Amino acid sequence: MTETVPELPDRAEVDEAVKLVNDHAQRIFLWNYERSRGQLVTLYNKAMASQWNSVTELDWDTEVDPEELIDWDAPIMRLADEARRVDGSPIASWGEAELTQLGIESLKAQLSQFMHGEQGAMMTAAKIVETVPWIDARYYAATQTMDEARHTEVFARYLHEKLGEAYPMSPFLEGQITALLEDSRWDFAYLGMQIVIESLALAAFGSMLRVTQEPLLRKLLRYVLSDEARHVAFGVISLSEYYADLPEAELKDRQDFLIENTLRSRARSGTPEVWERMGVRFEDVAPALMEAAGRLQLNPFAGFMRGFFAKLVPNVRKLGLLDANDGYLRRHWAEAGLLEFEHADDTASDYEAYDAVAQDRARARS
Ligand SMILES: [Fe+2]
Ligand SMILES: [Fe+2]
Repeated sequence: MTETVPELPDRAEVDEAVKLVNDHAQRIFLWNYERSRGQLVTLYNKAMASQWNSVTELDWDTEVDPEELIDWDAPIMRLADEARRVDGSPIASWGEAELTQLGIESLKAQLSQFMHGEQGAMMTAAKIVETVPWIDARYYAATQTMDEARHTEVFARYLHEKLGEAYPMSPFLEGQITALLEDSRWDFAYLGMQIVIESLALAAFGSMLRVTQEPLLRKLLRYVLSDEARHVAFGVISLSEYYADLPEAELKDRQDFLIENTLRSRARSGTPEVWERMGVRFEDVAPALMEAAGRLQLNPFAGFMRGFFAKLVPNVRKLGLLDANDGYLRRHWAEAGLLEFEHADDTASDYEAYDAVAQDRARARS
């Protein structure tokens, strides 16, 4: 009898399936089990009570018509519509069918980045479990790791079952998360994920929820958002304590990190991969899109970035990072016009308002 030996994947297949990241942080074992951080204990208890089941609490039998998910008012749709009428436009021949396909591709691209970002969040939370020197934060990060597994899984399932092939991770997002996973300083995982990327996620999921009628995606986003608001609160609570005693020179590194990672994401480029799937090179269509943006007086990122900074700035203020080093970050962000959000609600206190899971359960009981 001949045994069939499974063929090993070759190098190219491995490279396509995985990415290796080297973490430079030290893992630590803690011997102090005393529950001394009340706010983190409360948050951990809350996280345990608000766990939800992605299999039984979401109705995966819901029929989804991708066309009905398209947000025709989204900047990319308005720009494409107008760009068809620009002289010499490579999409001059586009009709309703192509625009519809663009809308579907754009949604798939967005949900794909959510999915990859969630996996990055799962890895970052797991890193915090191993590197944070406080037991209460370690317990909390373990619940967040589970939350992020569920988020990754539900976005992957929604894409796979309802929309089709996912897009690869954007190099920008991949670079941001990889840097956090490699850093030797444990608080950078928090600052980059819980404060920056998760504020971005709150804004992105929130804006998708506002324009979505489809009941499965709506419930999925509401439940993911209730977890995310807790994650941001976790970052704010932990880092406010840590940064209170950090020397100014060290705080300066954190301020530089924020300048680098927020103003840069402000200038994010378009989504070339969506255009490529539509059979158009982004470089070719970009001039017509720019012209369309001028005609419509539309800045495609403005609305979204407002949502992001409205979450981010008050949280960063709460960490004391706006004013450390004689207001170094405050001056930078003031020049960029971001201080109008300084006194918006910070997420350390408003996470209860996001808890759709608890709200649904209370409604079901009454
Ligand atoms: Fe998440
Ligand atoms: Fe999260």
